[in-house]
Amino acid sequence: MRMTPLPGPFGIAVDGIDLERDQSETTIRALIEALHEHQILVVRGQSLSNERYVAFGRNFGRPLSFFIQSHVRNDHPEMIRIGNAAATPARYRDGAMHWHSDSSYEDEPASVTMFYGIEAPAVGGETLIASTVLAYDALDDATKARIDSLAALHCLGGSPELPGEKIPAMAEEIARNGIKRHPLVMRHPVTGRKAIFTSGTAFGAEGLEKEEGRALIDELRRHITSPRFVTRYKIGVGDLFLWDNFQTLHSATPIEYSDEPGKRRLLYRISTKGLPPLCAAPS
Ligand SMILES: [Fe+2]
Repeated sequence: MRMTPLPGPFGIAVDGIDLERDQSETTIRALIEALHEHQILVVRGQSLSNERYVAFGRNFGRPLSFFIQSHVRNDHPEMIRIGNAAATPARYRDGAMHWHSDSSYEDEPASVTMFYGIEAPAVGGETLIASTVLAYDALDDATKARIDSLAALHCLGGSPELPGEKIPAMAEEIARNGIKRHPLVMRHPVTGRKAIFTSGTAFGAEGLEKEEGRALIDELRRHITSPRFVTRYKIGVGDLFLWDNFQTLHSATPIEYSDEPGKRRLLYRISTKGLPPLCAAPS
């Protein structure tokens, strides 16, 4: 197994392992540690069956069930289809083109999200990722003290939009999910490192006036997404790309919706909740 830093301020790439054959405890433990340390991880050159991919996903927690049923495979409901087919309905296009952390609109946010690359377009379709631990570390002490014990309020589509963002308004889903409360500063359940947790769903903070809370969320989201904390990655064929939702925000970038060869994208996403079983059990 060879590990190489990704270009940019954080992230690590791994080569020289075959996860179809080897998901031993030693290998999985090394990948979990690499993800927790570097916030994003790409394992390159994979050729995975659906069964082995799902088994790999379970090493990081409990796969969540996604709320858009048409994106979920019938034979493997853990796998969420991310594509750019020309027939994609307008309401599902560019749904992730805003800075967020997955499932922050639920009681228990997702801990890890991973993608397996099947097809990649020649142009476009990159993912932006921001490190919320690096962003937290860079705050001055007064701001850390101000936000450390605050709870943020979240609902789907709630955050103030940053320039270039498209936060989808999904009235039905918003009504169903309601408002959730999460710590504004998340202490990582394994590493203990602190990170700012705002996602694209935070719209205020408990105990603050509405406008003051909204302004604080806006200020923190602008800080997190400043270029020094941001990297970009284009998921290629055979890539297994993972991010730690407790230490990052991510955003999709524009992609053409097309069925033409060379323009198609097909990724399978698995997101998990809770700890990796290897971290939960005493070693
Ligand atoms: Fe996402």
